[in-house]
Amino acid sequence: MENLAALRPWLCLLAAMAAAASWSGVARVEALGMNWGTQATHQLPPKIVVQMLKDNGIKKVKLFDADQSTLSALAGTGIEVMVAIPNVLLDRITDYDTAKEWVRHNVSRYNFDGGVTIKYVAVGNEPFLAAYNNTFDKVTFPALQNIQNALDEAGLGDTIKATVPLNADVYMSPTDNPVPSAGRWRPDIADLMTQMVQFLSNHSAPFTVNIYPFISLFLNDNFPVDFAFFDGGATPVLDNGVQYTNVFDANFDTLVAALKASGHGDLPVIVGEVGWPTDGDKHATNVYAQRFYNGLLKRLAANAGTPVRPNQYIEVYLFGLLDEDIKSVAPGNFERHWGILRYDGQPKYPMDLSGQGQNAMLVPAQGVEYLPRTWCVVNTESPNMDKLADNINFACTFADCTALGYGSTCGGMDSNGNASYAFNAFFQMKDQADEACDFQGLARPTQTDPSTNTCNFTIQIATTSAAAGHRRPIGVAAAAAVLLFLAQLTILLH
Ligand SMILES: *[C@@H]1O[C@H](CO)[C@@H](O)[C@H](O)[C@H]1NC(C)=O
Ligand SMILES: *[C@@H]1O[C@H](CO)[C@@H](O)[C@H](O)[C@H]1NC(C)=O
Ligand SMILES: *[C@@H]1O[C@H](CO)[C@@H](O)[C@H](O)[C@H]1NC(C)=O
Ligand SMILES: *[C@@H]1O[C@H](CO)[C@@H](O)[C@H](O)[C@H]1NC(C)=O
Ligand SMILES: *[C@@H]1O[C@H](CO)[C@@H](O)[C@H](O)[C@H]1NC(C)=O
Repeated sequence: MENLAALRPWLCLLAAMAAAASWSGVARVEALGMNWGTQATHQLPPKIVVQMLKDNGIKKVKLFDADQSTLSALAGTGIEVMVAIPNVLLDRITDYDTAKEWVRHNVSRYNFDGGVTIKYVAVGNEPFLAAYNNTFDKVTFPALQNIQNALDEAGLGDTIKATVPLNADVYMSPTDNPVPSAGRWRPDIADLMTQMVQFLSNHSAPFTVNIYPFISLFLNDNFPVDFAFFDGGATPVLDNGVQYTNVFDANFDTLVAALKASGHGDLPVIVGEVGWPTDGDKHATNVYAQRFYNGLLKRLAANAGTPVRPNQYIEVYLFGLLDEDIKSVAPGNFERHWGILRYDGQPKYPMDLSGQGQNAMLVPAQGVEYLPRTWCVVNTESPNMDKLADNINFACTFADCTALGYGSTCGGMDSNGNASYAFNAFFQMKDQADEACDFQGLARPTQTDPSTNTCNFTIQIATTSAAAGHRRPIGVAAAAAVLLFLAQLTILLH
C-alpha cells in the first residue's frame, strides 16, 4: 500500500473531512474483538485475562491456537471465539481424518450448554505472507476445505466458519495505477486466491485480512504520517472521484476491488488484526497508538464503513491485547509491544472501546501477582568492566531488550544504563533466580527501582511455577543446568 504515498497530491485535505462522517450511531462495542496472543515468557493466568475481558465489555476474542486452559477459562462466558490452527500444522490437516480429529478435539468438544461459543476456525496465520516464500501455498487451501467439511460433517458448519487470516500483502494495486479500485491478487497466488474466495463464498464464510497502517509508515520513510491515522491532515488520494484520507480505508477497498475482480465483491470481510505498537520504533509510541485507536474506534462505533462499503458494520479484532516478550523481532523491535495493555494487564494510555472518545483507561487485570520488588543492575565496582559488552549481548540474546533501541522508551542511555536494563530483563525472565544476577560479577541485585520517567525496569509477574521455584533453594550446579536448559528452550521458541 506504500504505493499510494507516491501519488502526487491533487487537493489539500479539508480539515473537516473526518467530521463529515456521522458519529451519531449507537456504539457497537460488540463489533470489537481482541487478539489474545501468548508468546510471552510470563503469561497472565487465563482466568485473570477472561475477567479483564468481561470487565471491559469485550465480547469477541481471536486466539492463535486452541489451548485447552484458555478455552476452559472462556467456557460459559458467552465470549465469541476464533480458534486457530498454526501454520506448522497445516500440512497434517491436508489429511481429512486428521482434520476431523482436530475439529472433534478442539471444536466439537466445547460445543455444549455452558461451553465455548466458537464462531470461527482460523486455518493458519498469514500463510501466504511474501516472507514465507510460498512455503504454505500447497497446504492451506486443502486444509481450509478439510476443516470446513469436517465442521459441516459434525453439524456445526452453519454456525462455525473456517477462514484464513491473511496479511494485506496478498493483494496490491499496480505501480502505474496505485489506487484502491485497481486492487488485484498478488500474481504468484492469484489463481489460489480466486479458488479460495469462491470456496469461502460457497460456504458463507468471511474473508479475514490483517491491516497495518503502522507497517506502511515503518517501511516507508516518505509515507505521509497523517495518512496512517483517521483525523485528517493528509493529502487525500483520489480514485475515480472517491477521496481516500487514510490508508486503512484505501487498503480495505483495495481488497474489495480484488474480491470484485474475482466475482465476489460482496464477500463479508473481517479485519483479523489492526493496531498500533508502543515501543521499539520512533513511530511506536503511546501518543500515536492513542491517536490511532481513538480515530479507528470512533469510526467503528459509527459504522462508517469505507468509501466502497459505506455505512457498514465491520467486524474487527484489535492487535493485540497484551505485550508479548518472546515474539519474533524479525519484522522489527516493535513486535513485542503491540498490546493495548502491558505484559501485566495494565493499560498504557486512555482508550474508549465504545468509540465515544472519552478519556478513560481500560479496566486493568485484577489480582495479578508479581515477583518481589528486586531489580538487577550493573555493579560499577566490578573489576570486569571490560567484559560489559559481551555480557549485555548475552543477556539480550535471551531477554527482551527491544526498549533499548534508538527512538524507544529506554534508548539513549549510556553503556551502564544499557547494562542495567539488559541484566534486569534477564533476571526477571529467570524469575529472579540469584544466579541470574551475576554476569561475571558485573551485576548486583537492588531494592531501589532504577526506572526513569520514560524507561520502565519491569518486575515480572509471578507464574505459579515461578513463584514456587523462587522459594525453593536450589544448588548452583542445578541452577546453572536449569539456566542452560531455559536458554536452549528460548532458542527453540524463536
Ligand atoms: C487439537 O487437536 C489435536 C488432535 O487432533 C491435538 O493433538 C491438539 O493438541 C489439539 N490442540 C491444539 C492447540 O491444536
Ligand atoms: C525466504 O527467502 C529469502 C531469500 O532467499 C531467505 O533469506 C529467507 O530466509 C527465506 N525465508 C523463509 C521463511 O524461508
Ligand atoms: C462453489 O460452488 C459452485 C456451485 O455449486 C461449484 O461449481 C464450485 O465448484 C464451488 N467452488 C469451490 C471452490 O468450492
Ligand atoms: C545501548 O544499546 C542500544 C541498543 O542495543 C545501542 O544502540 C546503543 O549504542 C547502546 N549504547 C551504548 C552507550 O552502548
Ligand atoms: C511503568 O510501569 C508502571 C507499573 O505498571 C506503570 O504504572 C507506568 O506507567 C510505567 N511507565 C512507563 C514510562 O511506561
